Amino acid sequence: MSGLAQRMSRLGTETAFEVLARARALEAQGRKIVHLEIGEPDFDTPAFIRKAAAEALESGFTHYGPSAGLPEFRKTIADVWRAERGIPCDADNVVVVPGGKPIMFFTMLALLDEGDEAIYPNPGFPIYESVINFLGAKAVPIQLREEKGFDLDIKELESKITSRTKLLVINSPHNPTGAVLSPETVEAIASLSRRHGFHVLSDEIYGRIQYEGKHVSIAALPGMAEKTIVLDGFSKTYAMTGWRLGFGIMDKTLATHVARLMTNSNSCTATFVQKAGQVALTGPQGEVHAMVAEFRVRRDAIVKGLNELPGVTCAMPKGAFYAFPNITGTGMKSGELAKALLEEAGVACLSGTSFGAHGEGYIRFSYANSLENIHIALASMNEFLTVRAK
Ligand SMILES: Cc1ncc(COP(=O)(O)O)c(C=O)c1O
Repeated sequence: MSGLAQRMSRLGTETAFEVLARARALEAQGRKIVHLEIGEPDFDTPAFIRKAAAEALESGFTHYGPSAGLPEFRKTIADVWRAERGIPCDADNVVVVPGGKPIMFFTMLALLDEGDEAIYPNPGFPIYESVINFLGAKAVPIQLREEKGFDLDIKELESKITSRTKLLVINSPHNPTGAVLSPETVEAIASLSRRHGFHVLSDEIYGRIQYEGKHVSIAALPGMAEKTIVLDGFSKTYAMTGWRLGFGIMDKTLATHVARLMTNSNSCTATFVQKAGQVALTGPQGEVHAMVAEFRVRRDAIVKGLNELPGVTCAMPKGAFYAFPNITGTGMKSGELAKALLEEAGVACLSGTSFGAHGEGYIRFSYANSLENIHIALASMNEFLTVRAK
């Protein structure tokens, strides 16, 4: 089509949805596919949350609400994140949006001018790079290396900082590697931000899905609340991906600008969904803990199985629900292997390069699927790789 704005050529995408579409097409032809591509819990949203949404609908939460979110919900979020993560914040610091992604989009829109530089993890969630490029800012990748446990290398980070560096994106626990930034790394990033003045977009959407150690938010460190935008939401923790409910915690002035972007785009987040979110946060957390416990069992199973595959080694992820094995020993490129696993072994997964150029040599499995399916996938990958290795 002609007439598209120039900027559209700079907008990237998330290949998980394309792989899902191809897997569904194969299923329509009668093939059996195990879905390890999509990053969403296979559990249903807990019943008490669904019930709260139904009750909210019945009691009239069917109208517009304030752009920044319902006041009592913003307050609850601030109370919980202050208590749980030690982030100094109140309701005015919180903006409620439809999912976690809008916080990326809106805070980058609010902070980045053309030519500003934003540093982001590579491999990393593809939308960071996409939005930075879309806005005409300069996307500066920082490589996360397996030999460092996919932690961020502070010396390397320092070497990427210039007078135009406006924003650093961090993500812990991390998609796609499952790595968790060490407390020392978080401290060191904070001290660089204080020294150079850049903002930090801290994507903590997997913050409650961590198997080792306690989640450390950079926003809780001295002086960092004003400089940090915490991105969080309900999609992963409460198995609410389709509800579209997320939020950001940020400086109050920035919050008013992000709220204005909401007024200009969505008007507000669905009010009955916010009521359900309120109940999710204040209700029993047993199901969340049970989901995390189940993810841990699956993590152990998939990592063990992957390490037994010919040509594959896999580090133990500390959080989220992804395994990111090194596949260089198979002799295949990531894209080639991911495609062959789908087409020939019936296992849908993502090439590491879906997460940036430094994802070459890896593929990503989401283990948000049953143990039974994980074992089926491992067996068929074993067969495929064993035949290939001969
Ligand atoms: C690192 C990361 N951040 C943010 C998101 C977006 O979450 P949401 O579906 O709530 O927009 C995802 C979803 O996969 C993610 O992996």
